[in-house]
Amino acid sequence: DAPETVTPTGAPTGAPKTSKSQQGAFLTTAQGVRLYDTDHSLKAGERGPTLLQDHHLREKIMHFDHERIPERVVHARGAGVHGVFVGYGSAESVCKAGFLREGKTTPVFVRFSTVVGSRGSADTVRDTRGFATKFYTDEGTFDLVGNNIPVFFIQDGIKFPDIIHAAKPHPDREIPQAQSAHDTFWDFVSLHTEATHHVMWHMSDRGVPRSYRTMEGFGVHTFRLVNDAGETSLVKFHWKPKQGVHSLLWEEAQMIGGVDPDFHRRDLYDAIESGAFPQWELGIQVFPDTPEQTFEGIDLLDSTKIVPEELAPVQPIGMLTLNRNPTNFFAETEQVAFHTGHLVPGIDVTDDPLLHARLFSYLDTQLTRLGGPNFGQIPINRPHAPVNDMLRDGFHQHAVHGGVAPYKPNSLDGGCPFHAGAADKAYVEVPQRVVESTKVRRAAASFDDHFTQPRMFFRSLSPVEQEHVIRAFTFELGKCYEQAIKERMLQVLAKVDTRLCTEVATGLGLPAPAAEELPEVQPSPALSQLGQVWPVDG
Ligand code: HEM
Repeated sequence: DAPETVTPTGAPTGAPKTSKSQQGAFLTTAQGVRLYDTDHSLKAGERGPTLLQDHHLREKIMHFDHERIPERVVHARGAGVHGVFVGYGSAESVCKAGFLREGKTTPVFVRFSTVVGSRGSADTVRDTRGFATKFYTDEGTFDLVGNNIPVFFIQDGIKFPDIIHAAKPHPDREIPQAQSAHDTFWDFVSLHTEATHHVMWHMSDRGVPRSYRTMEGFGVHTFRLVNDAGETSLVKFHWKPKQGVHSLLWEEAQMIGGVDPDFHRRDLYDAIESGAFPQWELGIQVFPDTPEQTFEGIDLLDSTKIVPEELAPVQPIGMLTLNRNPTNFFAETEQVAFHTGHLVPGIDVTDDPLLHARLFSYLDTQLTRLGGPNFGQIPINRPHAPVNDMLRDGFHQHAVHGGVAPYKPNSLDGGCPFHAGAADKAYVEVPQRVVESTKVRRAAASFDDHFTQPRMFFRSLSPVEQEHVIRAFTFELGKCYEQAIKERMLQVLAKVDTRLCTEVATGLGLPAPAAEELPEVQPSPALSQLGQVWPVDG
């Protein structure tokens, strides 16, 4: 065999059918020495003792002892799949990214996940679902790391460890696994009213999707796009499933969780194997990039808010088709490393304080999870664009770098510091004006309204969907031990909708708080799963 390329960066992604460790007809040691017996250790006589000199025994056991890596601190349970994205060209007026051009086909890898449960937890629990997409574009890798719910629990990433500590199993009992039915979760939510909007979605049918194939996806944050002329727009990304948006009933979710904890993973794998390739249309809501970064009074930097589709329609810009299962779960689904900072020319971040913490967090956690700084060289993480970086050495370095001068400018390795004209195609951050201000540790006043959109969400649902929300709150809160937490949560619901609050209180056997005078809201029919109308065939 030809030797493997000396520098793995830039090589095609996807696990090869056979790797260097699966060649030839005979079993060997890791050093390629042919073995005659892998079933018996070397002993002094048939009944032992076992001899320390048995290198094959030591190598085999050592490797097995180190097969596990840490699971993701969140989104530990997931399923991955390969596919392609084809641009429509319709985004050209707002974005110069090459993968959005008309007819351009880009390979992708998508990982769907639950958030809270551990790697071996059940698929059908009530939870938010991750929807992370890696686009291997010609201009470098772009990751859209989204969820199936368009808003988040918190407004500032500094609170992420807090919400996750509250949502994970209790530290003393390590229960409940992967469910929202416990005191710490509702303690947090009732004390942080910014979480109300997310919790409304979480308690709705969106929290128990029928399949990964029938979920919408959302980039959540507002991003900034740049076109060829350097003009900028603010956008929110949406994935719209061609299969429609469907959920399980709570009772179905419970039963399936017992009968087949791998339900979503199996559904996705079987669909791909049978040639039923799921598709999603990528769409954007586009807003003018004004200095205020608001739209119709909604602060676009607040990730607990949506912009109703009736105010800003979702405009289709490309189609995703998932069509190939991974060859090896560990190599691909487990080792894939997404990052909100993986951006390509034409796509930039905004000042959303949740997004900024994410920009720090993913790289940081992957250093530990994937064992050092070279995880970008793992096949699933390799860009398809040529890579020519000055990152050197470190644990698990696979590249054999040439040259003597990994610094720029230099006069030794070909000399040229940068290619002339490279800035045209390079990633250049939008030269956005930073408002002159003083250092503060507090949220903007425009982040203060925690109840209007939760009310809009509830009132936009059909009666049967509203009934499911009421039952979900009743069930989950009913599992709390602390009465004070249930009562505090009822106070929160009283600010969302009087009927919702009263019916949950009745279900819990508690008095409802006094009804409040609640401002009216304009419902958004697109928020109801039954109201989904999307211009995709099928
Ligand atoms: C993992 C989405 C907020 C930290 C993930 C994954 C998704 C996701 C989809 C799974 C990626 C995979 O499949 O490998 C989101 C969304 C957020 C959000 C949509 C809010 C809009 C945050 C925040 C932080 C954070 C605020 C930290 C400040 C992490 C970490 C992982 C993760 C540490 C594990 C990554 C790994 O081990 O590879 N997130 N997340 N996330 N997220 Fe987030």
